[in-house]
Amino acid sequence: MTEPESDKPTDPVDAWLTALEARHLAELRPAEVARALRALSSAYVERRDRLARGAALDGAGKRAAFALFYGPFHFLLVRAIVRELGLAASGIDLIADLGCGTGVAGAAWALECAPHPRIFGIERHPWAADEARQTCRALGVEADIRCGDLTRIRFPARASAVVAAYTANELQDEARAALLREILAAHGRGTRALIVEPIAKSALPWWPEWAAAVRAAGGREDEWRFPIALPGITGRLDRAAGLDHRELTARSLYLGHH
Ligand SMILES: C[S@@+](CC[C@H](N)C(=O)[O-])C[C@H]1O[C@@H](n2cnc3c(N)ncnc32)[C@H](O)[C@@H]1O
Repeated sequence: MTEPESDKPTDPVDAWLTALEARHLAELRPAEVARALRALSSAYVERRDRLARGAALDGAGKRAAFALFYGPFHFLLVRAIVRELGLAASGIDLIADLGCGTGVAGAAWALECAPHPRIFGIERHPWAADEARQTCRALGVEADIRCGDLTRIRFPARASAVVAAYTANELQDEARAALLREILAAHGRGTRALIVEPIAKSALPWWPEWAAAVRAAGGREDEWRFPIALPGITGRLDRAAGLDHRELTARSLYLGHH
């Protein structure tokens, strides 16, 4: 006998998106958020220097666009990469999420593992750090989110995994070099590491050096292209802002367990 529709367990991701939409669209119209998304999307392409100073998150419209669009977008992307690379391993009990933003990368990885690992997130923007706490709560993942600079806060040495999604490119050269050293040292202690960045039209100048270091440590470099139908409010905003994503693309570096 098939279960009646209403008795089916709710997908935590659907429930998360519905709650996000209700919270962020309580005081904003979708058209305002779509306009902010267009601005944010061109800022990502053209004005990375301003982003580094947190300008991406100044204002309710941009925050809503970040939470409702980039959050779920990055969530789906990291989940797809985790699935392709087979990272849903047992024995992962703590994931450090560096520059966690709204908390989606760590949560996407954690949700693929059973039991779900805990998250240790570091995020310097107080609004995003608070949003990350709400993301993890909504998705049923236990999290300790620290609001501060990832160049100053160390993630726990016992972390089984570390993820940095769209973070390394926002750092100054020196801080980025220090992050690579920290990741390689953590890998030496047995921590897995996943780094995700966009396949930018203009190349990330630091990427080849990171890729070479990761390969030398036994890791891998990938480029991804996943066909996608963006769900719910994320898809509606995508269309309203004229972005019309048909696929998710990214590049990643992964250092496995040894
Ligand atoms: C493009 S967002 C990506 C967020 C999230 N990882 C994701 O995939 O959606 C980059 C995040 O890194 C944070 N960030 C940048 N530099 C940082 C630093 N030095 N310390 C802590 N967080 C930082 C920013 O505030 C922002 O939330």
